[in-house]
Amino acid sequence: MSTRQTKILNWSKKAPGIWSSIIGSPEAFTPFSAINVKPALQALKKRENTPFPFNPDSIKVDIISSRIIIRLPLKEDEKIFGFGLQFMRINHRGRTRYLRVNSDPKIDTGETHAPVPFYVSSRNYGVLINTSRIVTIYCGSCVRKDSKYSSIIRDRNTDPLWTATPISDSVEIMIPGNGVEIFIFSGNTVLDVVERYNLYCGGGALPPRWGLGFWYRMPTNFNAEQIIREAEELRKRDFPCDVIGLEPGWHSKSYPTSYEWSKERFPQPAEFIDKLRSKGFRVNLWENPYVSPSSKIYPKLKPLSGSHTVWGGIVPDYSLPEAREILKAQHTREHISLGVSGYKLDECDGSELTDNSWIFPAHATFPSGHDGEQMRQVYGLILQKMITDIFHERNIRTYGLVRASTAGASSLPYVLYSDLYDHRQFVRALCNSSFSGLLWTPEVREAKSSEEWVRRIQVACFSPLAMLNAWSSQMKPWSFPEVEPIVRKYIKLRMQLIPYFYSAFARYHFDGTPPFRAMALEDDLSKTDAAEIDDQYMAGDSILVAPLFGSERAREVFLPEGIWYDFETGERFRGGQVIQVSAGLEKIPLFVRNGGIIPMMPALSHVPQTGEPVPLEIRHYGTVSGNFKLFDDDGESYAYEKGFYRWRILEVKVLPDGKKQGSISKVEDGWNSSYGRITWKFIE
Ligand code: GAL
Repeated sequence: MSTRQTKILNWSKKAPGIWSSIIGSPEAFTPFSAINVKPALQALKKRENTPFPFNPDSIKVDIISSRIIIRLPLKEDEKIFGFGLQFMRINHRGRTRYLRVNSDPKIDTGETHAPVPFYVSSRNYGVLINTSRIVTIYCGSCVRKDSKYSSIIRDRNTDPLWTATPISDSVEIMIPGNGVEIFIFSGNTVLDVVERYNLYCGGGALPPRWGLGFWYRMPTNFNAEQIIREAEELRKRDFPCDVIGLEPGWHSKSYPTSYEWSKERFPQPAEFIDKLRSKGFRVNLWENPYVSPSSKIYPKLKPLSGSHTVWGGIVPDYSLPEAREILKAQHTREHISLGVSGYKLDECDGSELTDNSWIFPAHATFPSGHDGEQMRQVYGLILQKMITDIFHERNIRTYGLVRASTAGASSLPYVLYSDLYDHRQFVRALCNSSFSGLLWTPEVREAKSSEEWVRRIQVACFSPLAMLNAWSSQMKPWSFPEVEPIVRKYIKLRMQLIPYFYSAFARYHFDGTPPFRAMALEDDLSKTDAAEIDDQYMAGDSILVAPLFGSERAREVFLPEGIWYDFETGERFRGGQVIQVSAGLEKIPLFVRNGGIIPMMPALSHVPQTGEPVPLEIRHYGTVSGNFKLFDDDGESYAYEKGFYRWRILEVKVLPDGKKQGSISKVEDGWNSSYGRITWKFIE
């Protein structure tokens, strides 16, 4: 028998433009509690007190048969963005989203590696459900009898406007259980809403500077000697690279995982890491969370693990501090103290209803009392936090990869990836991740042609993590000799743009602004058709990236209002329109805003050590004055959390006679600047 209770919500204000309400009796285990989210309240306090976006009485809540149903009003013109790492669409209006973690998200249901129960509306508000349960969100995809639109009935035989999803006046959210916490965010623009969400989650992640260099994941069974040889080859061939990734073969056992070095392939791990470090490379280790019986930590973790195994390995309950301590101690002793810089946290995103059913079931039990459904939804989040904490305790920043995430992740220095490989979907995911506090890499693995290879490399170089993952393909940056110079050019360009990208990440941390973002987050494009553009995006504040795919040589690009300049040639384009662009293989169309300032460093083979200043070429594009906040800190430690950082203001003034004057703000004597000699380049 179904019971029904209707609730009136009480809202408590958390920060300017942010409210929460507790409905019924929520479970204690949520994404926020799992990682102890600490809102950046100081930064939030500086935001305007924007109004609550609804008439509070228009929000309806029912508890029906152990399900919470929340109904929020929806205007006819509203678009809905977000829900985490979505591959299939950008505007979810009219769709039902089933937000379950899924390692193989090939269908447009809302399931994905990183489903986030957070959406933003084109009407400048956001809604977050802080739960570790699977949430279903009907984004205007169902119509109630009492809806103001329910009387509009069209005849399918004669009316071309008939549609399977008639217009609806509400979003309905269904959460299993007897209680939940809901947050509402408001802002002046969609970007403002997203920024407040990121700040509420602690501010965006600030990777170490080396994390923004080029990454190369080695073939899975390569041994220490082969890897060193490959690293030397990179240097010889003049390909910048900062991070070498080791795939499953570094372990003595990997499916399930021992976390111990293979004695055959890596007899002297400390020497191996030192040798790479001396050549300017960091080492990142692959692992999955399922512990092999051969591992020394297995006996200690077994009583702290769930009821089911994966590939014969136990599934530790890392929501328990004592389980975390066991893994942390082992990783510190056997990897991090040897110089390992981070991890790729693989396969924490299983779901049972995929082609491959490999994960523990939803009814699995864990010693903490959480069940399999909850653990699957937040496992990736808990892993990210646990590993970040190890580094944080040592005052070292890390940057790594993860295959699952959810709400609250903004501050965690992890980048998502997938075994999917559709290039357009990869770019769409780059746009979509920016609505939900996630970072994503459109990693390059292989290609059917040299054209595809170049197009993929170009996009990867304009993403949060520029990576070739050769674990299975054994591809090398020079695998297509006919395009080797082009590949080198883009990996070098990535290197040159590090001061620009690093500053964009610092803004992510301090202001919540996503460093790579969808066009819908630009000014007020969210209300226009341009909001649904999912094949071009912004990299930092000034560069618009319009990738070409496969053998394409031309495409349409939407340029927002204003004047734009071709990044390379300085050719001028009028914005506020769609333009036709053609570009050969050597070129990814990049446009810089009028007044845009781009600080660039030399294409070094790897990011310099702390304290080694790099010269800067500062480019200014166009005819209007502009400025840029250049971030400066040691690039590696958490000293910035204690105020050890500086913003250098780069300014270009365009004088009445058209002459341009560049200046950089001073830092006090004794400040160890990361930037040396400065030259200005004015492009128009
Ligand atoms: C997959 C992962 C790949 C690679 C591989 C190694 O799960 O997505 O990138 O790491 O495992 O076995």
